[in-house]
Amino acid sequence: KRIVIFASGSGSNAENIIKYFNSTKTAIVTHVLSNNQRAKVFDRCERLNIDASLFDKESFTKDDTVLNFLQAEADIIVLAGFLWRIPSKIVEAFPNKIINIHPALLPKYGGKGMYGMNVHNAVKENNETETGITIHYVNENYDEGAIISQVKTSISSEDTPETIAQKVHELEYEHFPKVIEEIILQNG
Ligand code: GRF
Repeated sequence: KRIVIFASGSGSNAENIIKYFNSTKTAIVTHVLSNNQRAKVFDRCERLNIDASLFDKESFTKDDTVLNFLQAEADIIVLAGFLWRIPSKIVEAFPNKIINIHPALLPKYGGKGMYGMNVHNAVKENNETETGITIHYVNENYDEGAIISQVKTSISSEDTPETIAQKVHELEYEHFPKVIEEIILQNG
């Protein structure tokens, strides 16, 4: 199966997923797509020798450039730190084939504007005693698709938003590729 990854920023999850499937060969990451010209994910892809392309809002939401590309190139779509809402025509073309990771225990700390350190700051502010990751299918609404898997980690009073972020990233690296792989293997 061919995986296309969408990433808007650093792309450390994208890199981790690429390396995982390079080694297991249970699927292959064929392309990375980004909406952000300055995203560090482009440097990672160059190092890893993976095709990466920039696209704009027009080609994503108005014309069918991105949709056509995906229909030709992707079996599974993975969102790894991707910040735009997926247009309904793409959601409809890939039912249960688009997977997102969210750095908190949804439905808590989800929705528009809830990404990256915003999430971890809010978790700390509310004195949560646990947080974690949510891997879910994508629908037209931010962070509302069916949940596939959640993994928790505990938070102590000494934790800062930065240490919380670190704990969550570790969970992401450990679990996200494996969950993607399970879905691919289950669906044949
Ligand atoms: C991750 O924490 C992911 O859960 C969230 O955005 C972050 C992306 O980090 N949606 P990176 O770009 O993979 O380093």
